[in-house]
Amino acid sequence: MGNKKRVLTGDRPTGPLHLGHYVGTLANRVRLQDQYEVFLLIADYHALTTRPEKADILASREYIREIVLDYLAAGIDPEKTTIYLQSDVPEVCELTLLFSMLVTLPRVERIPTLKDMIRDQKIENPSMGLMLYPILQAADILHVKAEIVPVGKDQESHVELCREIARRFNSLYGEVFPEPEALIGDVPTLPGIDGRAKMSKSLGNAIFLSDPPEEVARKVMQMFTDPARIRPDIPADPDAPHNVVFRYHEAFNDDKAEVEELKARYRQGKVGDVEVKRRLIAALERFLAPIRERRAYYAARPQLIDEILAAGAAKVRPISQATLAEAREAMGLSTRRLAELKAQLP
Ligand code: TRP
Repeated sequence: MGNKKRVLTGDRPTGPLHLGHYVGTLANRVRLQDQYEVFLLIADYHALTTRPEKADILASREYIREIVLDYLAAGIDPEKTTIYLQSDVPEVCELTLLFSMLVTLPRVERIPTLKDMIRDQKIENPSMGLMLYPILQAADILHVKAEIVPVGKDQESHVELCREIARRFNSLYGEVFPEPEALIGDVPTLPGIDGRAKMSKSLGNAIFLSDPPEEVARKVMQMFTDPARIRPDIPADPDAPHNVVFRYHEAFNDDKAEVEELKARYRQGKVGDVEVKRRLIAALERFLAPIRERRAYYAARPQLIDEILAAGAAKVRPISQATLAEAREAMGLSTRRLAELKAQLP
């Protein structure tokens, strides 16, 4: 076993990845893969918590492929990062069950992300599976003993619960798990093109990594701007949070001098929204062109996706099995020999 720290994170296969994912966590993942041992899972069990219908499951199979393409396109290197499908490693379910004994129902009910999901998706009677959502996530993280979890800000409360579970387990049964830390992206949550607080596929306000140039340009032209600024010669504040075009410039324009110059002219009432947007389109193209190129390369080789997922599962399963054996042993559940399982590790 290497002695690099482990990183684990993932996404539900509910749609293609967008710019919000990129700044929230993808950029961190790409950066981390050189320094750490990174695991990236596609959380198809988690997708079931709100969408258990067969048609949704079938649709998610297609999204799984799209997300792997998004990862590879964004610069995730499958030689460095282990990409796997959650349901290919069912050991995580047993760990979820063991952990579920250590968490009270009111504790789960207080988690803000779950409350939001229940409200936004108008779920009247949450399933037991949905209540297990954050516990399953803790099992994802802890079955590989990950110490760093790069996620968007909205997932912080899940990582906090994961830390609590690790602490509780260790204090009851002995040191088995690390207490992982969330690593939040450095750009504050990216707003949607409509000015709403969060970019999201379900809100229909996202620019996807896979959008072609015309689509990106069309979406930028639609972007929300200051409604009080009806003429370009009205001075206004580019740093006002509702000025989403500038939020995107800050996040994606690599020409920082251009961004400062546009902001200065905006404050003086010397630049029109159209110019600010045209320059954003150019900046986004500089950012997206190499991503599109890599995507096309992998899209032309569909069997690579299957190979990457199969290799990922083959790598994770023995790790997961060993952790589970260790947990069972610590709890006094197991009679199996730990050494034997550990010997199977690469
Ligand atoms: N809940 C995460 C999300 O919706 C996805 C996820 C599942 C995850 N398991 C994880 C993220 C483990 C980090 C670690 O974005």
